[in-house]
Amino acid sequence: MRANLSVLRAMLMLVVALMLPSAFAAVPNNRAQPAYAEEQTMLQVEADTQRGAPGLTSSQSGHVHMDRHYLGQYGDSEGNVIVQRGGNTWRHLRNGPMASIAGTLLIVVPLLIVLFYNTIGPAREEPRSGRKLQRFSRWDMQVHWATAISFIALAISGLVLTFGKKIMLPWMGHDAYSWVAYILKYVHNFIGPLFVLCSVVMFFTFLRRNFLQRIDWQWVKEGGGLVSHKHPPAGYFNAGEKAWFWLGVTLLGLVMSISGLVLNFVNFGQTRYILQVANYLHIIGATFYIIAAMGHIYIGTWGTPGAYEAMRHGTVDEAWAKAHHSLWYEQAKQGIAPGGAPPPTPPSAAPQSPPPAPPSPRPGPAH
Ligand code: HEM
Repeated sequence: MRANLSVLRAMLMLVVALMLPSAFAAVPNNRAQPAYAEEQTMLQVEADTQRGAPGLTSSQSGHVHMDRHYLGQYGDSEGNVIVQRGGNTWRHLRNGPMASIAGTLLIVVPLLIVLFYNTIGPAREEPRSGRKLQRFSRWDMQVHWATAISFIALAISGLVLTFGKKIMLPWMGHDAYSWVAYILKYVHNFIGPLFVLCSVVMFFTFLRRNFLQRIDWQWVKEGGGLVSHKHPPAGYFNAGEKAWFWLGVTLLGLVMSISGLVLNFVNFGQTRYILQVANYLHIIGATFYIIAAMGHIYIGTWGTPGAYEAMRHGTVDEAWAKAHHSLWYEQAKQGIAPGGAPPPTPPSAAPQSPPPAPPSPRPGPAH
């Protein structure tokens, strides 16, 4: 319980740490290069009149400043903003350092996975026993597949939105690319809320099996046997899978869902500044989530022979279960549900007095 509380606390700190850089990223905007003639003119007028930005909500200059990021006229609603200087900062950051760092990571991580596979290799494969053990229920598999498919659709469409203009437009041309971007933008916008729903259902479906246990620490100390090719003891899920559940599905799921919903439903009065911060968070979260998913997919397929059967059919070979999840294997053999107590002995199994013996025939007279 204490370990689970520490994980929650660490996750909270991570969310705050993730949000801080993006909150700072948009201020001060005077560092950004003026993008358009209108903005240059406004900056020039301010400079000529020796009048700096008058600050929050001040209308002394004749402009209305809704906040430090908006320079508008004659009104105080977002619709009256003429030039939003934060937009320029956002454009520079998104198309510059953020796209470069995200793009580099998204290329380097799969290359590292291929290198790992070719040098250190996959997990040791045990000779099959030929006996099957039920690992996932039909519901588990449906939830997992729905989340996985919607995630992949979001990742592909999202990456096209981020990099397509640079990478695809030059060889596709404007006509073809505009259709691709248009369709994928709608795919993303409609599948996003579905993914939020899948993530919530996924969280509650797998929560109980992901509580931390003392044995997980041993798995971490042995590096999961990824390099040594040993099989450290593990319960239903090992510490690596639990890290994916808490940091990936839960933490990054939250970051992507909240920022995604803010971007998707723009009719709740959120300002452009809020949208920009949500966009920073969305790109940072997407990058981490996609590279972590690459690791998860590798380990669940080529990296651990026999593991994919669980996702595909719901069952695994007993030898696989014994090697990779020895504690769960023992429990499953005793009929104990993951994280649960042994099932109560059914009354029918309780020791019973033997049925009364039929009356022994009386020996008759010998003839
Ligand atoms: C974990 C899965 C997700 C991934 C990997 C992902 C990835 C991305 C990426 C890379 C972008 C482009 C950002 C940019 O270049 O500016 C994007 C944009 C966006 N995402 Fe997501 N996203 C995910 C989940 C969601 C969810 C759950 C929602 C909504 C509920 C959502 C809504 C949006 C919206 C509205 C945009 C802006 C689209 C536009 O430009 O019109 N995303 N996403």
